[in-house]
Amino acid sequence: MFTLSKDSPLPLYYQLKSDLERFIESGKWQPGMQVPSERELCGQYHVSRITVRQAITGLVNEGRLMREQGRGTFVAHPRIEQELTALTSFTQDMHQRGKKPGSRVLYSGAQELSAQAAHALGLDSSSQQTGFVLKRLRTANGEPLAVETAHLLWPRCAALVEVDMERNSLYDALRRYCDIVPTNARQQIKAAACADAEARLLEVRRGSPVLHIIRTTFAQNGEAFEYVESVYRGDKYVFYAELNMETTRGGAYLHSRAHSNGAG
Ligand code: GLP
Repeated sequence: MFTLSKDSPLPLYYQLKSDLERFIESGKWQPGMQVPSERELCGQYHVSRITVRQAITGLVNEGRLMREQGRGTFVAHPRIEQELTALTSFTQDMHQRGKKPGSRVLYSGAQELSAQAAHALGLDSSSQQTGFVLKRLRTANGEPLAVETAHLLWPRCAALVEVDMERNSLYDALRRYCDIVPTNARQQIKAAACADAEARLLEVRRGSPVLHIIRTTFAQNGEAFEYVESVYRGDKYVFYAELNMETTRGGAYLHSRAHSNGAG
């Protein structure tokens, strides 16, 4: 501990960063804990401030540490790792991680749909369409993670009006009261800067990185029943997918399913 090798081919900042990373991984540095100041680390490792700053900045950029202006640097809470190929509900996701899901209803009721929502739900978007709109702040152990606005088929989902959406899972309620089984979905994820209104709800600074997720979800009979626009905190989530090389008769080739604007 506290010794870096000047003879190593690895740069000093990198060695220091790996050492600090080990403290986080081993649990010696717990989430939320304040880490020693740059000056302290310079003294402990006998390296320059530039080296320490480079190591810390690397860990901040990777989301392992958080800098709080005027307060210092802290160990970040681990992000929620979200599989991209399984269709799950927020409630399920949180239960799987041993967290308590919560919802604050920001709006709930029948509303005119945007052309985009109507189109995604398979409705005639050239005329005015009504949907059931449910806007919720989603929390885990009381911590805000996402703002989700679901647009659902109306009057197909009218039974939801009677359901307390602060206490119930939307997907459970759809199965139970509307005979809708969420079966598959199409999803688009893009990076954005957090707007003012969402920043207040998510308790982050305006302009913080967030993920805009747009999902269209289909029922057991292939019918699109929800079109959801969500804003997820960028510092809380990691999305991952397992990718397999597609093969053809001619051998292996790379096939990209990525579209620049083909969501929904
Ligand atoms: C996820 C999805 C949403 C979906 C929600 C349902 O968060 N991104 O599209 O509406 O789950 O969650 P729940 O059943 O917990 O209300």
